[in-house]
Amino acid sequence: MLGTMITERHLLRFPCLLAGLLLVAAAAAQEQSVRPGINNHFMDPDWRQWVNTFERPGREVYDRRHAIVAASQVRPGMDVADIGAGTGLFTRLFATAVEPGGTVYAIDIASTFVDNTLRSSREQGLSNVTGIVNTATDTGLPASSIDLAFLTDTYHHFEYPRQMLASIDQALRNQGRLIIIDFRRDPRVSTNWVMGHVRGNKAQVIEEVQAAGFRLVADKALLRTNFFLEFVKAAQQTGEQ
Ligand SMILES: C[S@@+](CC[C@H](N)C(=O)[O-])C[C@H]1O[C@@H](n2cnc3c(N)ncnc32)[C@H](O)[C@@H]1O
Repeated sequence: MLGTMITERHLLRFPCLLAGLLLVAAAAAQEQSVRPGINNHFMDPDWRQWVNTFERPGREVYDRRHAIVAASQVRPGMDVADIGAGTGLFTRLFATAVEPGGTVYAIDIASTFVDNTLRSSREQGLSNVTGIVNTATDTGLPASSIDLAFLTDTYHHFEYPRQMLASIDQALRNQGRLIIIDFRRDPRVSTNWVMGHVRGNKAQVIEEVQAAGFRLVADKALLRTNFFLEFVKAAQQTGEQ
C-alpha cells in the first residue's frame, strides 16, 4: 500500500512526489457538488416566466413577504445580501427597508436575474441595490461587508454549501446574521415534488450551518410549508471595517 511503500526518505529525495501527494489530499478535501444539476433551470432563465413563478399568489413566501421582511428585523442603514435573489422579490422590499443609508446586494449565479433585478429596482426608484453575479462556491462579497445574509428557497440550491457558508461567514460583520427560509421536508406532510427536489430537512440544514461556524438563535413559527431559521456568526473577527 502507498502508506507502507513511501517512506520519509523517499519524500525528502523526491519533492515532486511530496507535492503530488499534497495535491491528491487537497483534491480529496475539495467539496463535491451535493446536488449536480439542481440549477439547470437557471442557466439561461426566462425572466418573465420566473416572475410568474416566484411572485405569484399561492407561493407561501410571496403571500407572507411582508411578514418575512418584518421578522427579518432589517433597519435603516443596514447592508443586506439577498443571496440567490432570483427575480428580486426580497431585494426590492429590503432596499426600501434599509433606506436611508443601507445597501442591498442582489446576488445570483444567473446574470439575467441580477440584470433584471437591477432594472426593476431602478424602475421603482430604488438606487441602493448593487448586483453581483457570483459563482456556485463564492458570494463575491468583500470581507465584513454585510449585516444580514438572507436566503429564501436558495439553501437547497447550493451545490457547494460548505464553501458558500464559509464565504457568507467571511462577508458578515461581527454580530451579523444569517436567515435561511426553505421548504419543510417531511414525508408526512410534504408534496412529492418537495420530497424529490429538496435535499435535506430542517434538522440537516441546522446541522450543516452550525458545522460551518454559525449558532442558531431563532426558529420562527411564521410559515406553514417553509421554516424560518436565524443564525449568528459564532466566531468574531478582529480588524473589522
Ligand atoms: C428557487 S430560486 C429562489 C429565488 C428567490 N430567493 C425567491 O425566493 O424568490 C433559487 C435561486 O438561487 C440561485 N442560486 C443557486 N445557487 C446559488 C449560489 N451558489 N449562489 C447564489 N445564487 C444561487 C438560483 O440561480 C436561483 O435564482
